[in-house]
Amino acid sequence: MKSSTVFLSLVPVLWFLSVRVSAGPTCGPCDPAQCAPLPEQGCRSGSVLDSCACCSVCAAAEGEACGSRVLRVRCGSGLECVRKKKSGVCGCKSNYEVCGTDGTTYRTGCALKSASQVAEAEGKEPISVQNKGRCATAPVIVTPPGQVFNVSGSQVFLSCEAVGVPTPVLTWKKVLNGGKKKMELLPGDRENLAIQTRGGPEKHEVTGWVLISPLTTEEEGSYECHATNSKGEASAVGAIHVVESIDDIIVKKVTKEDEL
Ligand SMILES: *[C@@H]1O[C@H](CO)[C@@H](O)[C@H](O)[C@H]1NC(C)=O
Repeated sequence: MKSSTVFLSLVPVLWFLSVRVSAGPTCGPCDPAQCAPLPEQGCRSGSVLDSCACCSVCAAAEGEACGSRVLRVRCGSGLECVRKKKSGVCGCKSNYEVCGTDGTTYRTGCALKSASQVAEAEGKEPISVQNKGRCATAPVIVTPPGQVFNVSGSQVFLSCEAVGVPTPVLTWKKVLNGGKKKMELLPGDRENLAIQTRGGPEKHEVTGWVLISPLTTEEEGSYECHATNSKGEASAVGAIHVVESIDDIIVKKVTKEDEL
């Protein structure tokens, strides 16, 4: 009684499978000798069995057409056929960046795979995944702090933007007068000085500011923006100048641009 119930419940499944198989083009008995050879240079996205599960054919690579009744193409491993209207396009199953053993960041694991296939075809080492996410890189200061001119009692700031993987940590130091390499880690105990840092605007980027209000001649000088992560460090220097009057700001700005 029990086994017949199981059998009966399998009937629709078996029927479905038989319909699926017979829906294909007439798949005669498989004769591998009749199969067209694979291209000599190999397939960009590996090979798969054709819809009759007989001959090896090139699989479709990422971004290539797949599926559809007419075009019976299958996607390579790691890819899936994403339907778009009547036909489909092979898309990567995993949709995140990966770091390859060649030190390059790839958009997806599939992009890495096809780069590896190209490398191998050229007789180079295959590339594998070193880690999920981007490859680690030392920090780079993308926007260094500039030069600021203002009068005593005004409000000024210096900003600095750095990028790196892992996201760098930003610190500010004031270059002390006199001693060449003497630096004071900011904010120290200055009441009129604040340090602010936030992530972004881009991924793996960080932006920091030195905010001064009110400005006094004490804060005049060079400021170093310092970015560090596990891969290295980078720094850039900006400066704050205290001027006599507002008119000097315009004059100084023009001369600065003339220099550039
Ligand atoms: C100079 O100070 C004024 C007043 O605090 C401020 O509004 C202005 O943005 C400052 N200019 C610069 C270039 O920092």
